Amino acid sequence: MRTRVLSGMRPTGSMHLGHYLGALKNWVRLQDEHECFFFVADWHALTTHYEEREVIGQSVYDMVIDWLAAGLDPDKSTIFLQSRLPEHAELFTLLAMGTPLGWLERVPTYKDQMEKLKDRDLATYGFLGYPLLQAADILIYKATYVPVGEDQSSHVELTREVARRFNHLYGRGAGFEGGVAAALAKFSKDDQRYYDKQRKAFGETGSQEAWAKGEALVRRNAAALAAGTLPGGWSEMETELLLGHLKGGGRSVLVEPQALHTEVLKLPGLDGAKMSKSYGNAVLMRDDAETVTKKIRGMATDPARVRRTDPGDPAKCPVWHFHVSYSDKNTKDWVQQGCKSAGIGCLECKQPVIDAVVAQQKPWRERAAALMAEPKKVHWIVENGTERARVVARQTMKDVRAAMGLDY
Ligand code: TRP
Ligand code: SF4
Repeated sequence: MRTRVLSGMRPTGSMHLGHYLGALKNWVRLQDEHECFFFVADWHALTTHYEEREVIGQSVYDMVIDWLAAGLDPDKSTIFLQSRLPEHAELFTLLAMGTPLGWLERVPTYKDQMEKLKDRDLATYGFLGYPLLQAADILIYKATYVPVGEDQSSHVELTREVARRFNHLYGRGAGFEGGVAAALAKFSKDDQRYYDKQRKAFGETGSQEAWAKGEALVRRNAAALAAGTLPGGWSEMETELLLGHLKGGGRSVLVEPQALHTEVLKLPGLDGAKMSKSYGNAVLMRDDAETVTKKIRGMATDPARVRRTDPGDPAKCPVWHFHVSYSDKNTKDWVQQGCKSAGIGCLECKQPVIDAVVAQQKPWRERAAALMAEPKKVHWIVENGTERARVVARQTMKDVRAAMGLDY
């Protein structure tokens, strides 16, 4: 089975180059290696923008068009809309029952965002709880990897704690011990002894090697039993029981995910601050060539270069950061030399960036134009993805309800 990747984005409307380089580019790559779920986190947008109903609706499909334009392939990735899946809200509610308030108050983004978004009243229950909603988004798909920016690490960490606590509280329900024994009895005597040995080693020393060996053994036997190569039959539940027992806890009803941080080059905005549509300093993925040219020609440069004859320092210039992402070595050397010696002018320096950005956008603009001409197709892609996601979300909720004793 391929490992599962899940990530979401708030609908902020048309995406800009920072979104592409910081996240989307990575998503497009991941869909070839993993089973990927990508969703529009429209409820999350409401945690801060609960007063603005129109903005969100418009932004959803603009954002999805850019995802598809960038190369997300609906045949490879499941693309869906959070608010169409009430299962997320159900899991959020159930997890909320046992989540200590302190865990949420301590999430660093909570205080940060309160500070930053002073013009909004964020003393709401939804805003405090939003990392837990994110935990539900992740756990409901039993995702292994969650590609997110560093700023979201604490949310993935919270998700892990929530999963661990859930498994501890509810993973040992009736039949846990018996289930473990029955599953293990399907292994050869040698493998049973090997499993016990690794379990003991992991319990005593926390050895990652013991954990890895034990897990590999379980997965190998599970595959053989499920395929019928070994007699006895097998279910996914039995894998969860044995892995839970190996860890010394209950059954892993919910899976602890890992954050996936990929090295990304930060692209500043036109003025050198963080690129953001709301700061008016962004180059949009779908800007046309003329707009791109105008925007980049107007970009801030090293303030020391007042006149053409004043030398500058690329390290102090946002244009340089664009070269880092968009130019080859020769061009970068040319910039370094030419800037420091006042051999080139800033407009001259910006031209290769303009050319590279326009070239990169060409396929995006073409794909986006085709999709905009067929809005129904975009809706259909999202509907279809949502139904695929629903199958997984429903199954998890069945397990969760049963584990909590809510299956009466
Ligand atoms: N909180 C994320 C953000 O603001 C978006 C998000 C919501 C998300 N749920 C998620 C990301 C689940 C990864 C996984 O950017
Ligand atoms: Fe920036 Fe290029 Fe001008 Fe140097 S020459 S200040 S790197 S735009």
